[in-house]
Amino acid sequence: MNKLSGKTALITGGSSGIGLASAKLFLAEGARLAITGRDPERLETARQQLGDDTLALVSEAGCLNDIEALLEQVGQHFQTLDILFLNAGIAEPTPLELTTEDQFDRIMRVNFKGVFFTIQKALPMLKPGASIIVTTSITNRSGTPNFSVYAASKAALRSMVQSLGLTLIGQGIRVNAINPGPIDTEGFNRLPLPGDVFQAIKTDIEGRSPIKRFGAPEEVAKVALFLASDDSAYVVGEEIVVDGGISLVCLP
Ligand SMILES: NC(=O)c1ccc[n+]([C@@H]2O[C@H](COP(=O)([O-])OP(=O)(O)OC[C@H]3O[C@@H](n4cnc5c(N)ncnc54)[C@H](OP(=O)(O)O)[C@@H]3O)[C@@H](O)[C@H]2O)c1
Repeated sequence: MNKLSGKTALITGGSSGIGLASAKLFLAEGARLAITGRDPERLETARQQLGDDTLALVSEAGCLNDIEALLEQVGQHFQTLDILFLNAGIAEPTPLELTTEDQFDRIMRVNFKGVFFTIQKALPMLKPGASIIVTTSITNRSGTPNFSVYAASKAALRSMVQSLGLTLIGQGIRVNAINPGPIDTEGFNRLPLPGDVFQAIKTDIEGRSPIKRFGAPEEVAKVALFLASDDSAYVVGEEIVVDGGISLVCLP
C-alpha cells in the first residue's frame, strides 16, 4: 500500500528543488497535494508536471496576509491537513558590513517568522496523526561566514521545532525537521554570487564532502516521505541531517 494514501499535504516552496521532488514523491505515494511558490511561471510548470489534481498557489511565505489566504484556500479544498511541509526558504549572502536591515528582516521573515505563523494558522486543520516538517540547513550547526543571517534563521527553526514538537505532541501532531547539506537544486545554482566564486564554493564543497558529491533533491524527498508518513510515528522534535556526511567533517 502507498505510504500516504488518503492523506492531504501542503508543501510550501513546492515549485522547485527539494519541494518539487517531495511533491512528486508524495503524489506517487497517494497523497492529495497543494504546493506554493512565488514565481507564477515556475509554479505553473510544476503544476503541469504534478497534474491537474494538484492545487498550485502563489503565496509569499513571509507575508501573514498571504499565509492566511493560503490556508483558507487549502481549507476549502481539503478541509483537513495531514502533512504540512514548510520548505520555502531563501539563502543570500549577508556580509557583516554590507547587510541592510531590510535584507536581514526579509530573510528572517521568510525563513523563520512565516514558518511559525503558518503552523499557527494551520493548526485548526491539523488533526491527531498530522506531521509538520520544516526544512532547516546544516549551516545552523556551524559557523557559516557571509551567511550568518541565513544560518541564524535556520538555527531559530531548529529550536522552534524542538519547542513546538513538545507543544503539539499532546495533540498527536508531530513536528520535525529535515536538515539538508549541499543539494543540487535550482535554488542552490541561483545563489547570488559571482560565477567564479560560486564555482570555487562548489568545488570546495565537493572536495570536502565525504561522499564527494552534492545530494539530489530526490534523496532529501525520501527523508521527507519518512517524516510525513506513519513510519516516523515515534519521531518527535527531531532534525534529520541529509548531507552525505559533510557536517561530520566541517563541524569542530
Ligand atoms: N539546496 C541546498 O543546498 C539547501 C541546503 C540546505 C537547506 N536548503 C533549504 O531547502 C529549502 C528548499 O531549497 P531548494 O534548494 O530546494 O531551493 P529552490 O530550488 O530555490 O526551491 C525553493 C522553493 O521555495 C520557494 N520560495 C522561495 N522563497 C519563497 C517565498 N518568499 N515565498 C514563497 N515561496 C518561496 C521557491 O519558489 P520560487 O521559485 O517561486 O521563488 C521554490 O519553490 C530552503 O528552505 C533552503 O533553505 C537547501
